[in-house]
Amino acid sequence: MPEKKRILTGDRTTGKLHLGHYVGSLQSRVKLQEEYESFILLADIQALTTHFENPELLEHSIYEVAMDNLSVGLDPNKITLVQQSRIPAIGELTVFYSMLVTVNALRHNPTIKTEAANYGYSDMTYGFLGYPVSQSADITFCKANLVPVGEDQKPHMEMTRKIVRRFNELYGETLVEPDIMLSDCPRLMGLDGNAKMGKSLVNAVYLSDSADVVKTKVMSAVTDPSRIKKDDPGHPDICVVSKYHKIFNHGEYENICESCKKGAIGCVACKKALAGALNDLLEPFREKRAYYEAHRDEVRDIILTGSEKANRIGNETVKEVKEAMHIYIGD
Ligand code: TRP
Ligand code: SF4
Repeated sequence: MPEKKRILTGDRTTGKLHLGHYVGSLQSRVKLQEEYESFILLADIQALTTHFENPELLEHSIYEVAMDNLSVGLDPNKITLVQQSRIPAIGELTVFYSMLVTVNALRHNPTIKTEAANYGYSDMTYGFLGYPVSQSADITFCKANLVPVGEDQKPHMEMTRKIVRRFNELYGETLVEPDIMLSDCPRLMGLDGNAKMGKSLVNAVYLSDSADVVKTKVMSAVTDPSRIKKDDPGHPDICVVSKYHKIFNHGEYENICESCKKGAIGCVACKKALAGALNDLLEPFREKRAYYEAHRDEVRDIILTGSEKANRIGNETVKEVKEAMHIYIGD
């Protein structure tokens, strides 16, 4: 049997994951775990690049993000959960790769630019500017073949591929050039109509939200403002709720749009139907999560065991890299 190809992807551990993460990434991870050897990274060093001043949040988030991944159906017997800061190879490779990347290339990285603007940085730390280099180390320590991520990660993938090519060209074929696998689901809007569902915005439905919280959030979503009375004809094309129906209640989507246009369904009923569909999706996740919440030691063991496995692979890669660079003189 040919060896399975390898995937590496991950999340910054800056807070709980939400529905945007689910449709953009977690959902496909669940499918991919059957076909690929999957590494899921809890990116706590990358989280520090923006949260180094309040790290209290991070320890808690490492568990939350691990449980978010496990509760949606990632099977700890199939995937390897890795805590970034436990992998010295990532730090070492980051230093080596930093010789191959210019400051200007990082400054012009569109995602770095957008994020720096969003965080309001007038200047930025060396760590923040350089996180795409560290991300290249995340991906290459285990020689991942494929990286499933959202559109915003494209510049980082291009940088990773460039680093790999440059390294192999300079020092001989050592690293694996990974392919990017883009999510087929467009970015999920916030319930407030904001273009992005975001942790820092108050428009997110978290995978760990209770049924009541989900309902309250959905009921407060913005809708077509021209609908004053229940039977006013609506414009589902400009309504966030209809966009959610399209994704999470697909079977009813056409029906709901038609009824809305005719003024045959009121917004309250429409939102209740959406809350129901979301809760149907989330309920099995809540059950799994409740198990892990009650067995935190097990979550910890999954992370520690996964990180150990990652270290065996990463240390081997570092050795090969050092040999290729003629800086390895033996043990
Ligand atoms: N930068 C990614 C994000 O913000 C998280 C991440 C860190 C990642 N390391 C990675 C994604 C390696 C894919 C591969 O979502
Ligand atoms: Fe939006 Fe539904 Fe109201 Fe139409 S009925 S405006 S789709 S919430």
